[in-house]
Amino acid sequence: MGLGFFNGKYIPLDEPVIPIEERGHQFGDGVYEMIRVYKGKPFKLNEHVERLFNSANAINLPLENDKSYFIDLILHTIKVSGLLECTVYLQITRGIATRNHIFPDVPVSISMTVKEITPLDPALYENGVNVIFHEDERWANCYIKSLNLLPNVLARQKANEKGCFEAILYRDEWVTEGSSSNVFIVKNGIVYTTPLSKRILEGVTRGVVIQICKKHDIHSIEKSFTKNQLLDADEVFITNTTGEIIPIVKVDNVKIGPGIPGKVTKRLHRLFIQEIMNEIG
Ligand code: PDD
Repeated sequence: MGLGFFNGKYIPLDEPVIPIEERGHQFGDGVYEMIRVYKGKPFKLNEHVERLFNSANAINLPLENDKSYFIDLILHTIKVSGLLECTVYLQITRGIATRNHIFPDVPVSISMTVKEITPLDPALYENGVNVIFHEDERWANCYIKSLNLLPNVLARQKANEKGCFEAILYRDEWVTEGSSSNVFIVKNGIVYTTPLSKRILEGVTRGVVIQICKKHDIHSIEKSFTKNQLLDADEVFITNTTGEIIPIVKVDNVKIGPGIPGKVTKRLHRLFIQEIMNEIG
């Protein structure tokens, strides 16, 4: 079940619509966003649209429409889909033009999918998941939510082949983020996450978790940590729009703490769900 959208038209998800000269297809020349919808309402929509504009701006992709246009477009598309528990992917590319690296003078392409979400197995939250460490082989501008995801795809595939849920990326021993998530550790009751820089994506979920910590007097620090510091942590968890807060219990087969999801992680997830309910109603 789901709905597609391409340049002004609603279409079935399986309808072929991307022209061969489309720059997203040819170059990965575009940016995207992913939004979670609960009970028919998108969570943190403004934050996602804000990030979409920051990403577009960072690749010199001029948008003719303002933020309210995209907010209305997303809300309308969710309504047309009729779905309540779903995800929205929205891509904007530099348009359709004869293949040439130089920017063409053509309108951008806007595509979207709305798809029913298959909720993650509750056992993942109860038992936690295993992950691997993987070298961060991406470019220098990971703060842009760019369509170029090849290194992320390769790292995640490696994790999958080892029966693991995610790949935790590192540069020179320093943890950056996951292939599609941000990483947190808890040590002596203090929550740490990698500070914002060009090396990581500013996760919307990450931002919500930091706000929750502030609101509930949970000490949190945006400070880099090494692979060894992560292994030595009491708790580790990852955050993203689809998974919310997922406890990590083993990295490369090494147990984190006692090898079960920690108290702080569980509490933060409960508070996160409350935050969703506060916003969605
Ligand atoms: N990805 N870091 C990377 C590299 C990501 O791809 C994502 C999310 C995050 C977490 O961001 P957020 O909390 O805003 O979802 C961090 C989404 C889930 C995706 O590409 O499908």
